[in-house]
Amino acid sequence: MVNIELEQSNRREVTRVLNNLLSDEYLLSTKTKNYHWNVTGPHFHDLHTLFGYQYVELDVLIDRLGERIRALGGNAFGTMTDFLRCTRLQERPGMRPSELTMAEDLYDDHKILLLSLRGSLAGNASLRSDIGTTELLTSAIQEHEKMASMLQSVLGKHDQLKKWLKAQEDIQREIGIEVLVPTSSAT
Ligand SMILES: [Fe+2]
Repeated sequence: MVNIELEQSNRREVTRVLNNLLSDEYLLSTKTKNYHWNVTGPHFHDLHTLFGYQYVELDVLIDRLGERIRALGGNAFGTMTDFLRCTRLQERPGMRPSELTMAEDLYDDHKILLLSLRGSLAGNASLRSDIGTTELLTSAIQEHEKMASMLQSVLGKHDQLKKWLKAQEDIQREIGIEVLVPTSSAT
């Protein structure tokens, strides 16, 4: 084990936090792969590419977390049983969300992870005493912020499109044209 100047009890606590985060990242990576493979619709190409790029980023982060746990002398989780037991995120088995619901779901998960990361860095004294892990989690925050902002761009476009469609329908109603609302834009 590398000689890291960190109390044994702190090391255990940091390992616990990192294994929880590893579980969350693993679930999010799996969900992102699922959406990369199964996305359909008019934004297929953009979302397929974006989700593909993002799961690669998440897998790089996952590897860094696992190796950091080992450097601290802990055992990194490596089974789906452990990941599912410890993750704070939710899977949606059996559901086939629309393409923009996929982006929204991933966006929400990134927001949960950002809250969790910021909370750990601000409130966990053991973590704050470990500069190496603090640096890793700070870069994880930057990665999640970047991924969330890209998803937000997709969703922002969607919101604008929905507003535009709604405005068009209102205008058509005002001038007395019958409006046929497709089910996909009815909400
Ligand atoms: Fe692919």
